[in-house]
Amino acid sequence: MPGALPPGAPIPATGPITPGTPAGERGFGVYLHVPFCASRCGYCDFNTYTPDEAGRDGYVDQVLAELRRAASVVTPRRVDTVFVGGGTPTLLAPGELGKMLAAIDRTWGLAADAEVTTEANPESVDPVSLRELRAAGFNRISLGMQSAAPHVLRVLERRHTPGRAVEAAVEARAAGFDHVNLDLIYGTPGERPEDFAASLDAVLTAGVDHVSAYALIVEDGTRLAASMRRGVLPYPDDDVAADRYLAAENALTGAGLSWYEVSNWARDDAARCRHNLLYWTGGDWWGLGPGAHSHVGGVRWWNVRHPNAYAAAVADGWPAAGREVLTDDERHTEDVLLRVRLRDGLPLSHLDAAGRAAAARLSRDGLLDPGTLEAGRVVLTLRGRLLADGVVRELLT
Ligand SMILES: C[S@@+](CC[C@H](N)C(=O)[O-])C[C@H]1O[C@@H](n2cnc3c(N)ncnc32)[C@H](O)[C@@H]1O
Ligand code: SF4
Repeated sequence: MPGALPPGAPIPATGPITPGTPAGERGFGVYLHVPFCASRCGYCDFNTYTPDEAGRDGYVDQVLAELRRAASVVTPRRVDTVFVGGGTPTLLAPGELGKMLAAIDRTWGLAADAEVTTEANPESVDPVSLRELRAAGFNRISLGMQSAAPHVLRVLERRHTPGRAVEAAVEARAAGFDHVNLDLIYGTPGERPEDFAASLDAVLTAGVDHVSAYALIVEDGTRLAASMRRGVLPYPDDDVAADRYLAAENALTGAGLSWYEVSNWARDDAARCRHNLLYWTGGDWWGLGPGAHSHVGGVRWWNVRHPNAYAAAVADGWPAAGREVLTDDERHTEDVLLRVRLRDGLPLSHLDAAGRAAAARLSRDGLLDPGTLEAGRVVLTLRGRLLADGVVRELLT
């Protein structure tokens, strides 16, 4: 296996991978990035642009142009999952999202049981648009709720009212979506234990079959980071984050959901996000759109980030900005990093002798489940989930 190409390595005229590269032996997904938001939330550093920063005109045709190029180098057996993320995909009309989905289907063929997700902001959908999305072929929706507490939503600079996310989730179920997710963020400055408890209650009231709960990450360059640097807001506290995680685990498990990845809970196996599982288990995927990352046949590449640069690039060539081929060591590190976070765990055989010795130690320390370790799998205990990054470090040293 060749070593990593330098970031930004030149893209050959034929594209980021050799035409005919086998794709999708462990599943094939399509990620479609929609890099637009009505306004930017203070904590968010995703590749997204407000209307004064980039226009949306022509976006659908640009994506279709990238898709046509992609089809000239990759022919997976079928598409198992599609995930439209952002940004705020639902700033585009359902018809526009449906047009891109139909093109993916025409190009590569959607599996009969394909999981087709769109992210959505609660304030950018309504019962009519949800029904249109469902009719266009979307069967899973992921809504950014973040919190049920008005003062927390204000710190996060969210635009929706506290109740809107739950309403939107109920509307999505009524529109016939098979799977509905709500995203929560915990550990925001000013969030009290009872605020997070109310957020968990609200999620459960909505009757969704999937919940993602993330500790607030303070990303460099965001307005939130600037407020913390100036001392206007306190930095998140690790102990508080751990308490919140335990509260999430208790409430969600008590209501019949179970974790399948450290930050993700699902009602049953069918409700797990297959697209994310494909990322976490080494599947292949093509990422369409500005800044989107792809991974096919051991090659990873990423597109130019700005929508204007993307529009210019797809007009007469590939939008890829750089690529790399992972070394065996890098693949191993990634495999451990991602699989250890899954409830299905990491086969013990994936670890070298030092890693297996570390696993035995971590099991004695109560961070890995002794029963599953005995049976040849590395699976985190609840305490291990709280310290997952440290566990991964130990397994890799
Ligand atoms: C692209 S957004 C979801 C869709 C939509 N744009 C929204 O915000 O409603 C993906 C999710 O990532 C999470 N997220 C984004 N930035 C984060 C941060 N700094 N810390 C923790 N979670 C974050 C949020 O839960 C958010 O819902
Ligand atoms: S969290 Fe979602 S809505 Fe807010 S800026 Fe980021 S992508 Fe846009």
